[in-house]
Amino acid sequence: MAVARGEFSSKLGFILAASGSAVGLGNIWGFPTQAASNGGGAFLLVYLLLAFCLAFPALMAELVIGRHAKSNAVNALRLISTNRLSYHAGSITGYVGIITASLILCFYALVAGWMLSYFLAPLAELAGLQDISDWLTEFGLYRNILFMLIFMTLTVAIISRGVQEGIEKWSARLMPVLLVLLLLLIVYVLTLDGAMDGVKAYLIPDLSRITDLQLIISALGQAFFSLSLGVGTMLIYGSYISQKENLFHLGRIVTFVDIGIAVMAGLLILPAMYVAQNNGVVIFDAAGKLISEDTLIFTVLPALFDTMGDIGIIISFAFFVLMSIAALTSSISMLEVPVAYVVENHAVDRTRAAQGIGLVIALISTVIAFNFADLFSLTVHATTRFSQPLLGFVLCIFAGWLWHRNKVLAEIKEGYAEVEQSLFWKIWPPYIRYICPLSILAVFVQLAFYNL
Ligand code: PFF
Repeated sequence: MAVARGEFSSKLGFILAASGSAVGLGNIWGFPTQAASNGGGAFLLVYLLLAFCLAFPALMAELVIGRHAKSNAVNALRLISTNRLSYHAGSITGYVGIITASLILCFYALVAGWMLSYFLAPLAELAGLQDISDWLTEFGLYRNILFMLIFMTLTVAIISRGVQEGIEKWSARLMPVLLVLLLLLIVYVLTLDGAMDGVKAYLIPDLSRITDLQLIISALGQAFFSLSLGVGTMLIYGSYISQKENLFHLGRIVTFVDIGIAVMAGLLILPAMYVAQNNGVVIFDAAGKLISEDTLIFTVLPALFDTMGDIGIIISFAFFVLMSIAALTSSISMLEVPVAYVVENHAVDRTRAAQGIGLVIALISTVIAFNFADLFSLTVHATTRFSQPLLGFVLCIFAGWLWHRNKVLAEIKEGYAEVEQSLFWKIWPPYIRYICPLSILAVFVQLAFYNL
């Protein structure tokens, strides 16, 4: 059965939606905490290099394949495959992408749930409900599950409404709020004592760490995670772009927004850590290492907000609203991956698909919540450090080797007639053919070799 496909109403609609997908907890939590624990400026430098040189070309591959196929990743990779083998490889890649996107959402919804509970906590405190405020900020099974469910309900509600009414409308509402909140918080934190030490730690690279393999692997995973690559999210968003738009231009803007917000978030979190230290909060352990990166945001920042008196309550509220918004515009793009597949390939109604898949994801998330110590980091690492870059590798092979170069060119020419004369067209095809897949592979070979 042919299902009417959604399409973004405008260029801005796509930019906001794709930036909304890209800008998430990965930017505001993941990037700054990884930078803080991996040599500050050194991580920033490697990250910028990998994001522009590897992640951006891979993003372009997804957008071009998606818009050409006007379908989900499974169908799209089948369409551009040239023989039986690549047809099956395409199907498997599409399915692994769907599973990876869904698994990412399983852990993402738990973390996003904490953001919701942390933004309610200052309100409870203001209302004099100290016990409730404590419950909201203490790590607990029931709190984790309850807020994960609330977050999943919001995600399902938006995705049920479709591309324009759901994804586009909510991204357009939430993204400007996110930007304003982020800017206000940065300006405020930079005025506090100790902030400049954080700025220095962030911007002055410890060059001796630049070749550190662990740092490179973290930066690569972070760059792929941050641009939502590999799992078919950008491919499906690409499939909703109209033929008259210039894909290169759109991809470039989304990459700049994503990297820009990550870099800005670093200017908030690292200075905030040093302000916290200045206020007596412990941020380094006895060995001089930054305290556990996963808990940074939930220990250091609330401790900082506590030292600020009443203004701390407002800042804390604003910060966790920011995090919740960032999480929501990303989680909708993850859910869209399995939903689009079920709607397009199995003719299921969108609302039902969103509800059914949302329920399964919430159930898996609950299992992770029950076995947090064993399953949480395992799911995070398996999906973001392995699956995403490897899927990115396969997508580069499809775009660079299997799909005919003239057809790729014809697709990019739609909306960008003069592309053949551009620098992009001189660099990108060999890049996607050789440099991207080989670099991803090189990192993995080293990984296997050193058994990190
Ligand atoms: N890019 C999002 C972030 O930085 O938080 C995470 C993400 C979204 C990953 C969508 C994968 C995805 F499909």
